[in-house]
Amino acid sequence: MEQNKTTLGLNLPTDPRWINIAEMNIEDILVDHAYCEQKAASSCISLIVSYPERRELVDMLTPVVAEEWAHFERVIEQLNKRGYALGKQRKDEYVSALNGILKKGGSRDQQLTEKLLMNALIEARSCERFKILWKNIEDEELSMFYYELMVSEAGHYHNFLDLAKSYSGEEYVINRWKEFLEAEAEIIKNLEVRGDRMH
Ligand SMILES: [Fe+2]
Ligand SMILES: [Fe+2]
Repeated sequence: MEQNKTTLGLNLPTDPRWINIAEMNIEDILVDHAYCEQKAASSCISLIVSYPERRELVDMLTPVVAEEWAHFERVIEQLNKRGYALGKQRKDEYVSALNGILKKGGSRDQQLTEKLLMNALIEARSCERFKILWKNIEDEELSMFYYELMVSEAGHYHNFLDLAKSYSGEEYVINRWKEFLEAEAEIIKNLEVRGDRMH
């Protein structure tokens, strides 16, 4: 299904008001977006250095670090083109709330699966937001940029889910993923819709 390819089964679609206010705040959106890419790269680096014995993980995530950093570079390019500076990182209420979904304790493998699913979730929501930007934003160059990112983040989403399945088994991951999706929908429902944040 077309929908599943680009919204990746999220339970709650983005509030339609978001695109209008986001388009009016493109500087803020680009700054927030740059930090999302930085955090995506940092998060993969942290997985690699925390689980260096997991060869499949190291092999799969090493190129993802490079891709996320290339995305960061391209967002900086878009900021520079418009005469904007990167500016300070803003509080990421979405990711802070998502941290609350993670099960504490458990084995090292269970912790890894929690982290992989968290990464998959952020990729899925980012992908959904990029799709909205691609389809709605007037600026043609930015629209195409977001199309490319949507495709790339969908690939990362699959990387994280595949890794989680290889460590914790398909059945466990599918069930736990459903819980993540339910909790994420609740978080999105309770977050203020603001045009200066990517999430
Ligand atoms: Fe990215
Ligand atoms: Fe990504």
